Amino acid sequence: MVDKNNSNTNYQRNILDNLSTAVVLLNSSLIIEYINPASENLFQISKRQAAGSQLNKVMHVDDDFIDRLHDAIINFHPVTEHEAAISLPGGREIIIDYHLNPLQLADQEIQLILEISHMDRHIRIAREEKLLSEQSATRSLVRGMAHEIKNPLGGLRGAAQLLERELPSTELKEYTQIIIGEADRLQSLVDRMLGPNNVPKKHNVNIHQILEHVRQLIQVELAEDAHVYFKLDYDPSLPDIMADSDMMIQTVLNITRNAVQALNGNGEITFKTRPLRNFTIGHTHHRLVLQTDIIDNGPGIPEEIQEQIFYPMITGRPEGTGLGLSIAQSLINQHGGLIKMSSRPGETIFTIYLPLSVASQDHKNGKKQIGEHK
Ligand SMILES: Nc1ncnc2c1ncn2[C@@H]1O[C@H](COP(=O)(O)OP(=O)(O)OP(=O)(O)O)[C@@H](O)[C@H]1O
Ligand SMILES: [Mg+2]
Repeated sequence: MVDKNNSNTNYQRNILDNLSTAVVLLNSSLIIEYINPASENLFQISKRQAAGSQLNKVMHVDDDFIDRLHDAIINFHPVTEHEAAISLPGGREIIIDYHLNPLQLADQEIQLILEISHMDRHIRIAREEKLLSEQSATRSLVRGMAHEIKNPLGGLRGAAQLLERELPSTELKEYTQIIIGEADRLQSLVDRMLGPNNVPKKHNVNIHQILEHVRQLIQVELAEDAHVYFKLDYDPSLPDIMADSDMMIQTVLNITRNAVQALNGNGEITFKTRPLRNFTIGHTHHRLVLQTDIIDNGPGIPEEIQEQIFYPMITGRPEGTGLGLSIAQSLINQHGGLIKMSSRPGETIFTIYLPLSVASQDHKNGKKQIGEHK
């Protein structure tokens, strides 16, 4: 007779064996129970040699790292860390991103899953710095141009108005109306190019209220015959954020509008919120970060524009101005946060990371809410 539990475990191990991410399974005394082939490769040690050893046998880690492991076990919460330095037994230092996840199966002691991705620090920092400086240079260029267009535009509109008063026939006034109308259109484009120039007015803001507000705005905009559904996956235990609520609404709205446009009247948008402990945004380590995902099941972002998606004037839509995401990124940067994107046909995820300063806020307890609304 086949032992069902055993075949399940074998099946799961088989999946782990085929992952390209290094996975280490530890017991609560930080003894290695299992490593997958990607870990064997990374640490140059076989499964058999590793099993039953202390973690330090495969990688030398500092006290901070060990504290994080204990922390994850004691508090039973996941931990994500970017760019942590560890040394391999041969002495070579590498930079890793890791994710710790405590696990407890019925009646068994807590285990810890350690997932490691090996990052080449220099490549990553150089790439991020290049991107950030390019983005900011492009943003200044666009703002400079917008500023230069703004002044003559005002004169143009004023002159058309004066001319209109002097014109004898309403037929001729149609032309001045076109000038005025087009000048107004250009004015609103230029205003968007200049972007919000205010310093954020930060106060305690509940992220779920922001998301609900945007959901209502979007639903009003939807066509009568649209079949776009919202799925809400909120973690209500999240504390408030210190943020400018108008800027938050603008950010979520820009991202969600894109999702609606991509869905073209048919599909599902998910709003999901989660806390992240010990997470690094840019180069700053935060104890607590708010992760907000805006997910759609549309066709995905065209591959050729994915790399530059947060630059101004990058658009995949004939009637798009390509400003929505660049504005959103700049608003979130002003809050010390970051927006990331991953996209493939059938799933596009925009993730907003915002630091949470829990000190001035209270934690509300509650269960996760999952609901569905049209
Ligand atoms: N969820 C999504 N699914 C598919 N494509 C997307 C999605 N979000 C953004 N895009 C693509 O990214 C482009 C850039 O988006 P962005 O909001 O910056 O500008 P836009 O929507 O074209 O114009 P604007 O927002 O200024 O009116 C879009 O034109 C679209 O091609
Ligand atoms: Mg847009």
